[in-house]
Amino acid sequence: MPISPQNPDTSESPDISATNDALMFDAHALAAYRIQTDQARIAVTAAMSGAQRVHSGIHPHELAPTVNELDIDRPAGDMDAALDELHRLYLDHAVYFHHPRYVAHLNCPVLLSAVAAEGIAAAINSSMDTWDQNAGATLIEQKLIAWTAARAGLGEDADGIFTSGGTQSNLMAMLLAREHYCAAHHGAGWVQRHGLPPEAGKLRIFASDASHFSLCKAAAVLGLGHDAVTAVPVDSAWRMDCEALADAVQASIAAGEIPIAVVATAGSTDFGSIDDINGAARVAQRFGLWFHVDAAYGCGLLVSPTRARLLAGIEHADSITVDYHKSFFQPVACSALVVADGRELGHVTHHADYLNPVEAAAAGTPDQVNKSLQTTRRFDALKLWLSLRTVGATAIGEAFDAGLDLATATYELMLSEPRFELLHAPEMGTLVFRFRPWMTVESAALDTLNDAIRADLARRGEAMIAATRVHGRRYLKFTLLNPATTRDDMAELLELIVTTGESLADSLRRRERSRSRAVQPSDMASQEWPAMQHG
Ligand SMILES: Cc1ncc(COP(=O)(O)O)c(C=O)c1O
Repeated sequence: MPISPQNPDTSESPDISATNDALMFDAHALAAYRIQTDQARIAVTAAMSGAQRVHSGIHPHELAPTVNELDIDRPAGDMDAALDELHRLYLDHAVYFHHPRYVAHLNCPVLLSAVAAEGIAAAINSSMDTWDQNAGATLIEQKLIAWTAARAGLGEDADGIFTSGGTQSNLMAMLLAREHYCAAHHGAGWVQRHGLPPEAGKLRIFASDASHFSLCKAAAVLGLGHDAVTAVPVDSAWRMDCEALADAVQASIAAGEIPIAVVATAGSTDFGSIDDINGAARVAQRFGLWFHVDAAYGCGLLVSPTRARLLAGIEHADSITVDYHKSFFQPVACSALVVADGRELGHVTHHADYLNPVEAAAAGTPDQVNKSLQTTRRFDALKLWLSLRTVGATAIGEAFDAGLDLATATYELMLSEPRFELLHAPEMGTLVFRFRPWMTVESAALDTLNDAIRADLARRGEAMIAATRVHGRRYLKFTLLNPATTRDDMAELLELIVTTGESLADSLRRRERSRSRAVQPSDMASQEWPAMQHG
């Protein structure tokens, strides 16, 4: 029988001392629950309304003493005191992804519905491993996996599992590729029983030069070594060259290696480039290889009202990484690995008598731990569920599209400023570029200048932009995911980059002059850029 608490909201002004007496969250702590969640909500409200800048600009060494001096063995007192403290340690300095000038990494602002859902998930605290720890949550997760698989065009046999992020999804995909090969050549369960086969050092994975480093990490964790990932060259648009892919697989076989997987990236981290998924699928099929699509970033296209076609070919994947916490505006963590043939997930199944005994599986109990690398696991599917059941998939797709449109508009703005060196036209929402001041600056100093621009904007809390290295040189990067960031915001930011860049370059020139008067040899690359003075 459902428990119906005696209307916890009838106490208009609950006794605040109740919050101190309450320890556990249970049916006796509902008044305290209301007070404490209100206190937390007030803290967040203050932090959000106070976040005029994207970040306070504080440096680690400036904040560290405030944290270090705290004695964890002596509690701050009550929730109010602890939250006050938290403002000083964190909320006053956090990097705010909802801010229009946060244009750095693949972090999105989050849907309100998802924030609310996090409160439910934490309070009920279901664990996703077994039905007897969550009941309905299992069905919700399964339905979202089926929905995602259907959006990707996978067939009836598809299945999958929520994970902690793209890194774990990619790890699991590579694990399945390895197991798929080992099961075919040595029999089911070989690795679980005997460890890696003798030829493990020859197994190879093929992914583009622009693919995510988590694939190399996965290969290392799986005992294949970093070098098992062969980097395939990209074309001028930073997409995997599928002819080079076929040649690389062929050459690998000729060299006595054993290709096991091809990975296409749908939305590379730096360039947002989308590999020719059909072309890569054809190569994988020709050589009988596992075909994985890393759509950690590009998964937003699954719900895009205008650009879903960019994922053409994803339906041929054996496995797909989907990061809802990048492109579906979900709080971290919210990701999934979806596979075309759900039976492949059996490679990670282990039956523990205390948890998910074989008998339970035989009786058809839907224990999700049978498909997961994790055991205890958060109900991360809930936030996506509440978002899809409130705002719906189309609104999410439109919000994702807004970032892509903004990247094009920003690119066009940048074309009219000769001091921006642009590396590519945007395919998704990222732009890699660097600033070149009017004065001539040698390459190494240009690297330092661009790093200095980024650091200066972050220090002042004016903007968070990212940096990366391309062909050995430093570049700046915008990642545009926030539908609240406008073309005007970007125009202002571009202006800020130009003025900051020229000003830093000017300081350098002045310093160079005074050095040369002192007949000092100059090595611009090794110099620190002078800090800008801000009144
Ligand atoms: C293409 C791609 N794959 C995988 C990942 C890893 O995802 P996560 O950070 O969620 O582990 C990233 C992260 O940026 C990514 O861009």
